[in-house]
Amino acid sequence: MSVDPNRPSAARIYDYFLGGTHNFAVDREVAERAFTLVPDLPQMARDNRAFLRRAVRLAASRGIRQFIDIGSGIPTEGNVHEAAHAADPDARVVYVDVDPIAVIHSRQILGDDPRTVVLQADLHHVDQILDDPAVRALVDFDRPVCLLLVAMLHFIPDSPELHTALRRYRDALAPGSVLAVSHGTAGSHPDRLEDLANLYVRTGTPLVLRDRAAILGLLDGWELLDPGLVHLPLWHADPGDPPVEDPDAYAVLAAVGVRT
Ligand SMILES: C[S@@+](CC[C@H](N)C(=O)[O-])C[C@H]1O[C@@H](n2cnc3c(N)ncnc32)[C@H](O)[C@@H]1O
Repeated sequence: MSVDPNRPSAARIYDYFLGGTHNFAVDREVAERAFTLVPDLPQMARDNRAFLRRAVRLAASRGIRQFIDIGSGIPTEGNVHEAAHAADPDARVVYVDVDPIAVIHSRQILGDDPRTVVLQADLHHVDQILDDPAVRALVDFDRPVCLLLVAMLHFIPDSPELHTALRRYRDALAPGSVLAVSHGTAGSHPDRLEDLANLYVRTGTPLVLRDRAAILGLLDGWELLDPGLVHLPLWHADPGDPPVEDPDAYAVLAAVGVRT
C-alpha cells in the first residue's frame, strides 16, 4: 500500500475517532459521515482501546512479556507498549501495519526504543512478519507471545489465504501464547452499518462485518478464556466501568484465546 493523501485510511479515521491529530482532511470527512450513521463510534473506539489494554494486562498476568500487534494503527496514548511496559519495563512489542502512514507515525512515537519494532506488512504475509530479522532479534518464539488482532480482522475479507495465515500464526507461537481479537458486527443496526461499510470502500481496506459464528471461525484452534466472545465492554470489565445499558446494540465483540 502506498501513501495517497487523497485516499482515506482506516488507521487515520480511527485516530480521528479517538480525538487524535494523525489524520488528513479526507479521513476527517469519512469519519464525520460515519458519525452521522453511528454516533457511538468515538465511544466504541475508546472502548476498543480499553479492551486492548485489558487484554495486554491479562497476558502479562499469565507471564507473557512479548507482544505482536498486527493492524496496530497509530499507537497513540494508552496503547500496547504502554500497557506492556507498565507490567514489565523489559516487555517486547512488535507493531505491524499495512498502512505506511501508520508506520511512519508509529516510528515517530516510539523513536529508537530498543524494546519495540515497527514493520510495514500485510497480515497475510506471515513469513515477512515472523522471519523479519528485527522481529527475530526481539521475540523469542520458544516462549509464549500475545498476538493482538484488535479491530483489524473486520478490514480483511474471508479467503483461504486469511484462514491459512491465522493457522500459521497459531502454529508458530509457543503453547501458552494468547490471541486477543476484537471485531465489528452488524449488531442491532444492520442497515446503518451497511452504509458505514460502504464508506470504507475508498480506504482500500473495506469493512467486513462478520456475524458471531464467522468471528468464532477466525478463532479456530484457540481455547477461549472466560467469558468467551462477548460485547467488548463486557470482556473483563474493570471495576468502576459504567454498566452497558444495551449490550444488544453493541456492535463490537471481543475474545482472548490461549494456544494449548
Ligand atoms: C481500526 S485500526 C485498529 C488499531 C489498533 N489495533 C487498535 O485497536 O487500537 C485497524 C488497522 O488495521 C490495519 N490493517 C487493515 N488491514 C490490514 C492488513 N491486511 N494487514 C495489516 N494491517 C491491516 C489498518 O491499516 C488499521 O491501521
